[in-house]
Amino acid sequence: MNKNFWQEQLKKHEKLCFLAPMDGYGDSAYRQSMKRVAPHIFCISEFYSADGLVFSKFLADAVLPHETIEDPLIIQIFGKDPAMFAKAAKIISDPRYNIAGIDVNMGCPAKKVVRSGHGSSLLINEDTAFDIIKALDEATHLPISVKTRLSFDGNQDLVRFAQGLQKSGAKLITIHGRTAKQAYTGTADFTNIYTLKANLDIPVIWNGDVKHYDDGMQKVLLPAWYEGADLDGFMIGRKSFGNPWCFLWEKHFHTPTWANKKEGFIHGVYHPTLWEMFEAMEFHATELVKTKWECKGSLEIRKHLVQYIKSFPWVKEYRKRLVTTESIEMTRATIEEMKTRFANDLTKRPGLGEIA
Ligand SMILES: Cc1cc2nc3c(=O)[nH]c(=O)nc-3n(C[C@H](O)[C@H](O)[C@H](O)COP(=O)(O)O)c2cc1C
Repeated sequence: MNKNFWQEQLKKHEKLCFLAPMDGYGDSAYRQSMKRVAPHIFCISEFYSADGLVFSKFLADAVLPHETIEDPLIIQIFGKDPAMFAKAAKIISDPRYNIAGIDVNMGCPAKKVVRSGHGSSLLINEDTAFDIIKALDEATHLPISVKTRLSFDGNQDLVRFAQGLQKSGAKLITIHGRTAKQAYTGTADFTNIYTLKANLDIPVIWNGDVKHYDDGMQKVLLPAWYEGADLDGFMIGRKSFGNPWCFLWEKHFHTPTWANKKEGFIHGVYHPTLWEMFEAMEFHATELVKTKWECKGSLEIRKHLVQYIKSFPWVKEYRKRLVTTESIEMTRATIEEMKTRFANDLTKRPGLGEIA
């Protein structure tokens, strides 16, 4: 990978589409589950402490190795000390790990994170933020990107901040359309993001409340009544829970590579068949156990499984078993039981009300 990575990707893709970094979700198994259905997306890992990566070889060896299907993989880190970021960058850049880029978290609003001078507090400590990007850019051949918010509390100048990051070496910036004070409340506001794009040379990515690929493609286009420029892509977070299909776009299916898979789209949204849901659950569970071992993987899968079948009318009957599963065998047995019971409905699409 090289510093022009994002510019090169923009020549290959109409717009860039990302899986948002999500702590407690975006691990290897989750990323594989998304890329298996939507190979065209870019995945950003959950965030890891820069200091943690430097001091714990165990952490680096647990989170940096990944499967080829996840490539190109971006690792997100947080912290406050430019020197530690530089050291972490050297570890992440080790060719053994084949990482494509480093993203810096400048948006996390959690009190603990902000009090430590990490995450969104960098929006009000601009010089530290710029020093971090400079230190990273000098320490590695990988492209550095930043994920941040509109402002900390509504009183910061986003254009000046982003221009400072760009000058320091950032090669892409993602804006979550809320202030850190808002955390996840209210609706994301993007008025300023189109203006920001017109004032930057690097790609600008929209994040916040994107429902699916088609929605993202509409949101990146400058509305007629706004000033600024079209954005370069979008990132989807929460809507991907149990829903790798949110990354599919009907237009892709008109190309030879994706031929014959058009059905299932209604108004730009893909509705998977029951069979696809069960397969996706089984894949996710299997990969989670493979990557985190049986005891941890089988507990962590609990929060994911029900998400996959939330549009399935009988989900209530299986919820308790799925959220209390203790082993991959128990998970598989529940999925197999559902497959057998609904053997005549496997090609139906619950999201379209095809199963009453
Ligand atoms: C469970 C959870 C964990 C998150 N962890 C991170 C993180 O590690 N790094 C980060 O930059 N943002 C994190 N976020 C914020 C998301 O990346 C994203 O900005 C936010 O969810 C808004 O996008 P959405 O409306 O598409 O979900 C997290 C969000 C959620 C819901």
